[in-house]
Amino acid sequence: MKYAVVFSLLATPVLAQDVDFSDPALIAFGQEVYTDFCLACHGEEALGGNAPDIQGSILSDITQAIRGTDQMEPVELYEGEPEAVTAYLMSLAPEVAEAKLRLQAARKQGSK
Ligand code: HEC
Repeated sequence: MKYAVVFSLLATPVLAQDVDFSDPALIAFGQEVYTDFCLACHGEEALGGNAPDIQGSILSDITQAIRGTDQMEPVELYEGEPEAVTAYLMSLAPEVAEAKLRLQAARKQGSK
């Protein structure tokens, strides 16, 4: 089963620049990654526990956090897994994710 998920992942543009974060296979894989590496601290459905609510996090939040912060140890993920976790977290709170993406896009425009 796990292999089937990985296979369908390879068929998605997960490693390409343009990730389809709404891909159900990517979201399902991301939920597994989340359960294995994040749930203990961030809680069921990422609503928080021993660590903040991270629903709606976008890729830049994840890549930054897994490098480690003051209070969060670095988490080593394989290639493609940060994108998958992001897809899962975005699916839990799409409106939060969208607001973050808009802000990020606006910042990028401003810095040109
Ligand atoms: C050992 C506990 C622990 C684990 C495991 C953990 N985190 Fe965290 N995480 C924290 C704590 C505590 C914070 C808040 C402190 C901070 O931001 O430095 C945090 C912060 C974050 C933030 C920033 C939240 C904010 O409001 O700024 C993100 C995003 C995040 N974690 C994602 C993840 C992801 C994704 C995983 C799994 C791959 C994960 N974390 C695994 C403890 C953990």
